[in-house]
Amino acid sequence: MCSATREQAGAARGAAVHRALEAEVGRVRAEAGGGSPRVLDVGGGSGTWAVPLAAAGCTVTVVDTSPNALATLARRAREAGVTERVTPVQGDVDALADLVPVGGADLVLGHGLLEVVDDPRAALAGLAAAAATGGAVSVLTVGRHGAFLSRVMAGRLAEARRLLVDPDGCAGPEDPLRRRFDPGTLGELAGGVPSLRVELLQGDGTLDGWWPGPSGDGETTPREINELDELASAVPALGAVAPRLHLLARRQ
Ligand SMILES: C[S@@+](CC[C@H](N)C(=O)[O-])C[C@H]1O[C@@H](n2cnc3c(N)ncnc32)[C@H](O)[C@@H]1O
Repeated sequence: MCSATREQAGAARGAAVHRALEAEVGRVRAEAGGGSPRVLDVGGGSGTWAVPLAAAGCTVTVVDTSPNALATLARRAREAGVTERVTPVQGDVDALADLVPVGGADLVLGHGLLEVVDDPRAALAGLAAAAATGGAVSVLTVGRHGAFLSRVMAGRLAEARRLLVDPDGCAGPEDPLRRRFDPGTLGELAGGVPSLRVELLQGDGTLDGWWPGPSGDGETTPREINELDELASAVPALGAVAPRLHLLARRQ
């Protein structure tokens, strides 16, 4: 199983990332005259993103270090009837160029990955190299400022302080994550990969991070909640304190 922390996975995924990925898949389809978009999901784990994308008609290669996660992915793909569109590959992002063709994917995902790898700059450069020219790289990662505020609200002030003062936004040796990003550090990281041009930097699950759940406002439908989440995620000040940050960059 993917060992995603709650911070990485979120109680519910934000609508903004789904919308951006749907737009990418639609763009590839339009440009390829209806052909199957080629998706590479690095650190794709048990298929949270890969299986729905395969169900939407994409061909998806999932690279992950964990055999257990890949076994769960295979089971989920089978249950969803998309086995033939999902290729699991066991391997490390550090060796991506040996595992998948350079420039072979229309859409490359690195979701929940940069906060756990040894070298996030090298990992992002690897994701970029795997994308076709004109293709997109989607990065979803844990937000440092959202993590800080959530610890403050939980009364865990010592941990909140460590998250704030540690150079990488790591709360200490017990922290399952090696680092957390803010919009500035994530944008800088992507800006350091010359082949990428950042098109989108937004929050993910912005509402999810702060909304205590249904209360007196029983009129709000799930669709309206998603719309509100998407609106909030696009506002820089709100996106910056979202549980996760989403970056979409185009391969030049
Ligand atoms: C938090 S899970 C994210 C799963 C999925 N992408 C998602 O967003 O739900 C992180 C995944 O990255 C994998 N992983 C960790 N380090 C990796 C590396 N160096 N190369 C490839 N995969 C890695 C883990 O095995 C795990 O499945």
